[in-house]
This record gives sequence, structure tokens and C-alpha cells, in this order.
Amino acid sequence: MDETPILDHIGIAVESIAESRRFYEALGLAVEGEEEVPEQGVRVAFLPAGGGRLELLESMSPNSPIARHLERRGPGLHHICLEVSDIRRTMADLRERGFELLSQEPQSGAHGCLVVFVHPRSTGGVLLELSQVDAPKAD
Ligand code: CO
Repeated sequence: MDETPILDHIGIAVESIAESRRFYEALGLAVEGEEEVPEQGVRVAFLPAGGGRLELLESMSPNSPIARHLERRGPGLHHICLEVSDIRRTMADLRERGFELLSQEPQSGAHGCLVVFVHPRSTGGVLLELSQVDAPKAD
């Protein structure tokens, strides 16, 4: 890989964005925008913090990954996101090295990004999101 991935955000699963944002706003952070990502069954709110961001994730449907996470583990840290410049190339590189991705193709994430998740088995126990910004339309 010729470019170093950038730490983009840390995802936090919450029962309610409206409730959870109060703490972060008390710290002086501000919600930059709330967005629904129907493909992932979540509503997200981003709070810029220095060079990175926090992403609060609230479930929109009982079958979403966030709903399952809340059921199994309760609210808390959910994933870390690294931004890459060419997600398909990164996916191919990782697959070639035997690392396990959670989907074959990149999916639509917040802000029109293309995203894919790497299985915690491959990352030392962390759910890792890879994201490519300003992606051309997938199809
Ligand atoms: Co994320």
C-alpha cells in the first residue's frame, strides 16, 4: 500500500443520539450533522474532535448490526475507521494476505463514502471500518 491510512473516526453504539450527545456537547464538541444510512440500518451523528471525529450510532431497525451489538454488549465502543484512498485495492490486498472482510464489495456509508468492515479475527479483536471518501458512484 503506497499511502498510509488516516484515522478517520471512532464509532460508538448508543441507545439514543439525542441522549448521548448531551455528554459530548458538555465537553465542548458539536454535532456536525446527523444522517440516516438505511443500507446499514443506522442513524449517525458525527462530532469533530481535533483531526478525527466521534461517530454516534443509533439503530433504526431491530435487525441492524447496531441493534445486535446493543443487545449483546450494550452501548459502547463499536468500531474504529481508517480512511484509505482506494478501498477496492486495499480490500484486494487484505484478501490476498488472508485477512477476513465482512463483505465482498464496498457498501454505502455516511457522507456518500464507500465502506467495508474487517472481521475482528483479523485485527486483534477490533471491528475495523475502512472508508474511501468522495467515491465515484458504485454503480
Ligand atoms: Co463508522
